[in-house]
Amino acid sequence: MLVTGKQILDDAHKNGYAVGAFNTVNMEVAQAIIEAAEEEKSPVFIQTTCGAISYAGYEYLSAVITTAANKASVPVAFHLDHGDSFKTVMNCLKNGWSSVMIDGSHLSLDENIVLTQKVVEAAHDVGVSVEAELGRLGGIEDNISVDEKDAMYTDPTEARKFVDETNVDYLAIAIGTAHGKYKGIPKLDFDRLDTIKKDLNMPIVLHGASGVDNDSIKKAISLGVNKINIDTELRCAYTDKIREIFAEKPDLFDLRKYIGPARENVKAKVIEKIRLFGSNGKA
Ligand code: G3H
Ligand code: 13P
Ligand code: ZN
Ligand code: NA
Repeated sequence: MLVTGKQILDDAHKNGYAVGAFNTVNMEVAQAIIEAAEEEKSPVFIQTTCGAISYAGYEYLSAVITTAANKASVPVAFHLDHGDSFKTVMNCLKNGWSSVMIDGSHLSLDENIVLTQKVVEAAHDVGVSVEAELGRLGGIEDNISVDEKDAMYTDPTEARKFVDETNVDYLAIAIGTAHGKYKGIPKLDFDRLDTIKKDLNMPIVLHGASGVDNDSIKKAISLGVNKINIDTELRCAYTDKIREIFAEKPDLFDLRKYIGPARENVKAKVIEKIRLFGSNGKA
């Protein structure tokens, strides 16, 4: 069933587990995510970036994902990932998204607050919940100095002010993860996470989680992360399977014979993540 992100994350926050937020740009990955969540009896986020919207369009994404969500017996939030403007958010609200992120993390604190306030007001008016981001991701290199960390990572005092002034429902923070594949092994700033969670006492979001080791993910959950974004590992599961099939059968041209197995491989990856995050059996 289609629900808001807040409905899912309030329970995760209360009970100390995390829910996977998986990106898709097509029907097959959406199906893989839903089938995995159904089998694991897990709540789930299916999310689309602005890039996904440029690729597939609001209507197609909405038709596919709301169909998947309505068929599912588990709670599904249909989420806008890294929303780039008020206009994009408005289009999502009109087209059936049940959760939106406004990403003002590149703005000054005050500008980020103003933009997020505006989005929260519009989204809450129609019963949709909101994620915002504070601090900058990146830092795929191993050695980040203390000064660089203070400049990039989420500042706990700013986080308090941001949440008080925006009334946002869940907050994405920067503690050392990066989008895409890591060059080295990411080291997360757990002390910062602990301080922020204890002070805010609300659902916290971790971006860039593909490629983070399982122990770090478990520790981040134990310290209060409740929504974990995974895109890159699903893209790899999909594409690696297709490469493998084409290597074995270079003459294959029936789409179903390689996209079908790619969908199965994505489903297996989503099941692995759901178990790691501890949301299995929570639906
Ligand atoms: O935000 C994270 C995504 O992995 C980037 O996705 O290429 O659809 O913008 P995109
Ligand atoms: P990854 O690139 O690490 O999968 O991060 C995905 C993400 O944060 C989407 O918002
Ligand atoms: Zn992200
Ligand atoms: Na990553």
